[in-house]
Amino acid sequence: MLRIAVLISGGGSNLLSLIEMQDKDDYQIDIVISDRQCKGISIAKRFGISSVIIDKKMHKNDLFKTIDKHLNNIDLVVLAGFLSIVDTNFIKKWKGKIINIHPSLLPKYGGKGMYGIHVHEAVIANKEKESGCTVHYVTEVIDGGDIIMQARVAVKEDDTPETLQKRVLLEEHRILPETVKQLAKTI
Ligand code: GRF
Repeated sequence: MLRIAVLISGGGSNLLSLIEMQDKDDYQIDIVISDRQCKGISIAKRFGISSVIIDKKMHKNDLFKTIDKHLNNIDLVVLAGFLSIVDTNFIKKWKGKIINIHPSLLPKYGGKGMYGIHVHEAVIANKEKESGCTVHYVTEVIDGGDIIMQARVAVKEDDTPETLQKRVLLEEHRILPETVKQLAKTI
């Protein structure tokens, strides 16, 4: 059974999908860590999962060292809407054991500035016919690590960034737990 830590910064809907699909045969969420006050932390509390806020403003230089201290016995770190840029030493230490969910079909619409609604705005501005989401390993290259799983979503003529974001998010909720379940078989 894979013991995971989920790192968040926002609404925590992907965290919720991981909680709902949690299965003792596959994986267990041991801890939820956020880098700021956010709604996702209350979701962890509601389900009795241990959680901690390590405020990025108070931990400017030691954010990831402090996070790392909470990762005892963790097999996999899952970034689920975590907005801080991950520190190189932390990435090196967790290489192959840290994944991220991104709301586009990487390698398209990834990298600096491509997060949240900005991704969907760019997809619509470029009149793309399809978008989607990607679960990938985290490496030093932002959104550039090996792709593990993707889901495709058609872009409709009348889509706004917000309507597209909602449909992509539904697919994120499906493939993130699915990826973790898949990794539970191999890690
Ligand atoms: C998701 O779109 C995820 O792909 C991105 O941030 C968003 C987080 O949403 N990295 P939530 O906090 O899980 O609701």
